[in-house]
Amino acid sequence: MSDLDQLRADLIPAIEQAPALDALESMRVSALGKQGSITALLKTLGGMTPEQRTSEGPRIHSLREAVTDAIAARKAVLEADALAAKLAAERVDLTLPADMPPPGGVHPVAQVMDELAEIFADMGFAVATGPEIEDDWHNFTALNIPETHPARAMHDTFYVDGPDGERRVLRTHTSPVQIRTMTSQKPPIRIIAPGRVYRSDSDATHTPMFHQIEGLVIDKGITLAHLKWTLETFLKAFFERDDIVLRLRPSYFPFTEPGVEVDVGFTWIKGKRVIGGDGNAADGGWMEVLGSGMVHARVLENCGLDPNEWQGFAFGTGVDRLAMLKYGMDDLRAFFDGDIRWLKHYGFGALDVPTLSGGVGA
Ligand code: DAH
Repeated sequence: MSDLDQLRADLIPAIEQAPALDALESMRVSALGKQGSITALLKTLGGMTPEQRTSEGPRIHSLREAVTDAIAARKAVLEADALAAKLAAERVDLTLPADMPPPGGVHPVAQVMDELAEIFADMGFAVATGPEIEDDWHNFTALNIPETHPARAMHDTFYVDGPDGERRVLRTHTSPVQIRTMTSQKPPIRIIAPGRVYRSDSDATHTPMFHQIEGLVIDKGITLAHLKWTLETFLKAFFERDDIVLRLRPSYFPFTEPGVEVDVGFTWIKGKRVIGGDGNAADGGWMEVLGSGMVHARVLENCGLDPNEWQGFAFGTGVDRLAMLKYGMDDLRAFFDGDIRWLKHYGFGALDVPTLSGGVGA
């Protein structure tokens, strides 16, 4: 066998069996590259006699063509294999179940705030907000709780320094939103103000941070009758019962005159107080659920409103407490422990929230 035949016998089967594209490329370089074996043969043509060239030239060129073709053919096969492997590896099976993150839940406080907003929206109330870091005037003074007033001792207040050196308070109730609303809007006013409030207090029914909802109505000719109807309508909608009985008890709040505490009747069922029924019945009693009253004339004046022209009522209650009464939790502290097991038990499905408009008990 001539050298050429030997070279062909070495190269072609090796190319045809090249295991991968990079191996094939090195074979191409060692045969056809600048220093390649076939390139070297081609270079010898220059030093040949015309006769030799006539006989050797076609053989060398045919070898070069055969090698070039073999490389192209093998390259096509290897590329097709690589593509097929890639497609197989990256294949998406749309019939597999989706890899979803664990579902989140809606905290009972958020749930109840949502329910409250819906109930009051139906009665024409807008939602108002105010800052959690309040000044003395909005949290106390404008609400007719002056500096020296003993009522201030009713609130175990967290004080903080303001940027201007003035003392600030973490608002102890949502009532300052009454002031912020009356000083920024013209009556008639119908608002609720849900939000966080702070008091230095901690036991099974008190946490340093908790939630309240405030309500305020300012209009002409507003009386206690409007207050009672509004609260009764709200409590019936919230507890989803028609047999809610209210009892209004005279009470003292510096920002109301008269002030009333609102009790609802409950019935003992399996050792639990269940809202509903006449509190006077043998198997029941009364439970306080709200503070309220007619807005004090001095509060109206503090906000630039003439009490002879405008009257109103206000109320405030604990959102967490409403949640406990409706959904049956008994330790307030667990609301804010962040224990995922508690949330799983008492939380609401994010996509399945029972609301008045969307349906209850879904
Ligand atoms: N701000 C009161 C509290 O935190 C609750 C309250 C009582 C709000 C009477 C009112 C009201 O608007 O009229 O204890």
